[in-house]
Amino acid sequence: MVGAGRAARTLARLWREAGVFAIGAVSNRSLASAQAATTFIGSGVPSEFGALDARASASAQVVMIGVTDSEIEGVAQQLATRWSVLEAGSAPAVVFHLSGALPAQSLAGLRSVGAAVASLHPVTSFADPAALLVSFASTPCALEGDAAALAVLEPALARIGAKVFRIDGNSKLAYHAGAVFASNYLVCLLDAATQAYAQAGIDAVEALALARPLIRQTLENVFAHGSAAALSGPIARGDVELVLAQHAALAVRNQDLARLYQELGRHAARLAQRADPWEATALPAEPGGRV
Ligand SMILES: NC(=O)c1ccc[n+]([C@@H]2O[C@H](COP(=O)([O-])OP(=O)(O)OC[C@H]3O[C@@H](n4cnc5c(N)ncnc54)[C@H](OP(=O)(O)O)[C@@H]3O)[C@@H](O)[C@H]2O)c1
Repeated sequence: MVGAGRAARTLARLWREAGVFAIGAVSNRSLASAQAATTFIGSGVPSEFGALDARASASAQVVMIGVTDSEIEGVAQQLATRWSVLEAGSAPAVVFHLSGALPAQSLAGLRSVGAAVASLHPVTSFADPAALLVSFASTPCALEGDAAALAVLEPALARIGAKVFRIDGNSKLAYHAGAVFASNYLVCLLDAATQAYAQAGIDAVEALALARPLIRQTLENVFAHGSAAALSGPIARGDVELVLAQHAALAVRNQDLARLYQELGRHAARLAQRADPWEATALPAEPGGRV
């Protein structure tokens, strides 16, 4: 393992406990961090990556790169350079990383030393590794890369209960943007709701208490009926006057919030197949027209 942070150490422990992989070298930037990782995993030989020699790093059959996304290509290059001095056939057979946004192709340099490469993205948050040990089973995992790597990783994931699905490596940025919308931007959306409530004098705690049952009900509706059918509110009803008044009210105190309201409103109008409320007002108001 190179980069045994939250995600990689969790997978390593699950695989060790399931008897899928025995853990060998565990390298992080610092030795102390690698030691903490091996303690968590319950196995492995900790080291500082910079001090790990070619033969020790090549002694494994499978190498998991769990460094942060921006470090992946650099680490892969360093491994390829170190392993290029070894006799042919002694580099690890499979190398994979855990990024949701980057493809297996980020490890392409390792093919020249004989490794098959893959990307494996568990669709979950590893913020609390200890808790995830209990709840990991059924986690969806996106997998793509060389056939020889997938032939090793797919059964290894099945053994710890993961639900593997294949993804096109060329689409990983868009695929990961889906997760950004579903997770990160959902948080931002709730923050925006809190800001709107604040303009009405409702504090953040009360705002979340008000939003909570709404969020739950809305999500249940989306999962049961799909996004378009779950959309309710003024835009779904085509209440253009209310939408414009609401936008103007927000803009008085917070232009950024008003802009976000407008952009999401436009998206909602397309989802509801209604006319864009802001464009609609720019059209001449004709009897029987859209306005
Ligand atoms: N966290 C999640 O919820 C999650 C979910 C799915 C996928 N992932 C993916 O998993 C990967 C790791 O994320 P993470 O959240 O586990 O990160 P993390 O907790 O920050 O761990 C990264 C680890 O990589 C080590 N590292 C960083 N750069 C290194 C380098 N140049 N050489 C050697 N070791 C290096 C760090 O060592 P030090 O401790 O010594 O600094 C650290 O232990 C990323 O590709 C991420 O996209 C994460």
